[in-house]
Amino acid sequence: MPASRRNLATSALLLALIAPAASAGAQPAGFNYDEAAVPAYTLPDPLQLSSGGRVTSPEQWWQQRRPELLRTFEEQVYGRAPGRPPQMTFRFLSVDREALRGKATRQEVRVLFAGRDVNGPKMNLLIYLPNQRTAPAPTFLALNFYGNHAVHEDPGITLSTSWMREGGRGVVANRGTEASRGTNASQWPIERMLERGYGLVTIYYGDLDPDFDDGFQNGVHPAFYRPGQTRPGPDEWGAIAAWAWGLSRAMDYLETDRDVDARRVAVMGHSRLGKAAIWAGALDQRIAMVVSNESGAGGAALSKRIYGETVARINTSFPHWFAANYRRYNDNEAALPVDQHQLLALIAPRPLYVASALGDQWADPRGEFLSAVGAHPVYRLLGAPGLPVTQMPPVDHAITTGTIGYHMRSGGHDVMLYDWERYMDFADLHLRSAAGGPPGGPE
Ligand code: GCU
Repeated sequence: MPASRRNLATSALLLALIAPAASAGAQPAGFNYDEAAVPAYTLPDPLQLSSGGRVTSPEQWWQQRRPELLRTFEEQVYGRAPGRPPQMTFRFLSVDREALRGKATRQEVRVLFAGRDVNGPKMNLLIYLPNQRTAPAPTFLALNFYGNHAVHEDPGITLSTSWMREGGRGVVANRGTEASRGTNASQWPIERMLERGYGLVTIYYGDLDPDFDDGFQNGVHPAFYRPGQTRPGPDEWGAIAAWAWGLSRAMDYLETDRDVDARRVAVMGHSRLGKAAIWAGALDQRIAMVVSNESGAGGAALSKRIYGETVARINTSFPHWFAANYRRYNDNEAALPVDQHQLLALIAPRPLYVASALGDQWADPRGEFLSAVGAHPVYRLLGAPGLPVTQMPPVDHAITTGTIGYHMRSGGHDVMLYDWERYMDFADLHLRSAAGGPPGGPE
């Protein structure tokens, strides 16, 4: 290729790297999308101890295998995060019991991670609960990409003042404006959720860590540095772990809210936020159900299966997402001591829904399905039905009857009403009965 064309190609690549949100729907060139060209790979067995022995009882899973897998994912993939900050406080920002034409109670709660320090790190929860209910509401908890004000046109939502990426949606000088309201509403069918009896709690992910590589100077990380520390260690939390940590801090609040049934909270996330949702669900057993919407590489999709996005590509495009240790596996997936089916298995026996889209080959739909298949034996060991099928179902055919749900929707990388309806069908099965809590294991 002549030098000028090479430069053009390089700038196009660079552009794609720095504008991830805009390129999210594309299938980047230069990666494998050919099933026949997937090299052979071996998956580690979720039920084999690193010492070689087999896990044959639930006790062995809870006491030995689960902790060792969690530790490996922490050290090698996402990075270790701190726990609940002891000084954390909650402040009520607003409440409207007649929101959305009387259908909902809308509440906004600010979580101050550093106690009373209003200038310290914080996040805002936007909460909608159905007014028509007789008991605390089962609720979906999900991070959002464009600010709480973007999920609905409701003028009562406080406009976020956090940093956000420019490039449409009314964002000016990296801040949301009045024009940003409701610009992401198509992905959030809030009225429909309320009608089906579910609440929604959502948080702008940039409250926790703005999604660009700044060496971990902004976001929640610096508040937890040891004296003299300037960035997370190689086995410490990246951005995905920080977003997941925020979901657990939201659970801390929800446990105090009498209108929410904290034992019936489903965490849902799309794409990079699906990666965070799965990691949160793996770590935090208070989360009763997990939904991964097209989470792809570093989420539900197998890493050792070379199809679509690779470990090297994700670590290069998004150097701030994972623990630095994860770079050891760039172009070397075979050396990974774990794979993502084992991450899904950490959610067992709690209900888990994995969803793909046919037009989202970058996220490797088959790799996401095979990962669910790979988690199934752990569900069985723990007495749960797991995934009721072994073959990938046809497009737009949802499997919602087991404790692992799956569908591949037609269309592209997105969250659509079809997806939400299936998540609610699945939740109806697992979360509707107020009796009993989540089927989690011992802490
Ligand atoms: C990019 C990235 C994916 C990610 C997606 C998104 O495409 O490569 O890993 O899931 O952005 O978050 O939309």
